[in-house]
Amino acid sequence: MSQAQEAGAIIKDAVDSRMSGTGSNIELKKENPTDLVTETDKAVEEFIKERLFNTYPDHKFIGEETFAGGAKTEFTHHPTWIVDPIDGTTNFIHGYPFVAVSIGFTLNKIPTIGVVFNPLLNELYSAAKGKGAYLNKTRKLPLFNPPQPLIDLSHCLIATEAGSDRSKLVIDAKVAAIHDMLRKKTPETPFAAESHSIRTTGSAALNLCNVAKGIVDVYWEVGCWEWDVAAGMVIVEESGGIVLEGHNDKQDIETANIFCRKYLAIRAALDRSSQLHIASQMRDLIPTIDAPRAPVPGGYNA
Ligand code: IPD
Repeated sequence: MSQAQEAGAIIKDAVDSRMSGTGSNIELKKENPTDLVTETDKAVEEFIKERLFNTYPDHKFIGEETFAGGAKTEFTHHPTWIVDPIDGTTNFIHGYPFVAVSIGFTLNKIPTIGVVFNPLLNELYSAAKGKGAYLNKTRKLPLFNPPQPLIDLSHCLIATEAGSDRSKLVIDAKVAAIHDMLRKKTPETPFAAESHSIRTTGSAALNLCNVAKGIVDVYWEVGCWEWDVAAGMVIVEESGGIVLEGHNDKQDIETANIFCRKYLAIRAALDRSSQLHIASQMRDLIPTIDAPRAPVPGGYNA
């Protein structure tokens, strides 16, 4: 059993015991009431951290709860594990089965390994740079082989999230973007995408895995963090997808930096130009939204 699966077993036990009335899962207070954390988030992160340090004492560690506990994020060329113990904490609290352990690994600042495990659906996603992406170790991603053509945003299923910044400015901008993703195209609204629909799982890591599977075409989110995406980005790229920065500068077609807090992932297709075409159509709809972060010592770039 992989470390992600062992950590997942702790999460599944916590959900099962709460559902059967035998367990408690105290929601801990955070400054932001929509950015939830539980004792299980902390316990699972400690479990993973201890296991990693026992095996790789020289490696560096960035984790959601370690950061929340006041640790400074430092990003270096050293081997670094980037961990979200429970991505989808809100789902975990509600028993909504899109919950994942997310373990990413960077070497020389390059995202190199990604493992995402959903213990409630028993789905393990894994990828290593240059080695492909897999579901439950054997099923190569994407699930569609060959990938379906990517023609136009109007044919796409788009994943996005409310996120935890519920300020009026941010929510108005996100709702306006979703409105344009869904709205009927008319001569008066040529910018409207009239896409197939939108989906929201409540887990950035699982949204990326759904892009890697090819069951959603596009995922756009502003406001999540490196631990939400470090593993999923490797899985998307190894499935043949791309992850760009989720802003509206159409000229920027570089792979997103894991620290950028704005992500636009497009699933595998037969050619990169069709992926970039969809990215460009999305960027016609993406509003300018600020997602600030303190500078990271060591810098973001490889
Ligand atoms: C959150 C989830 C959610 C996303 C938030 C993340 P967490 O992670 O990935 O889908 O919208 O931006 O913070 O807090 O459950 O680990």
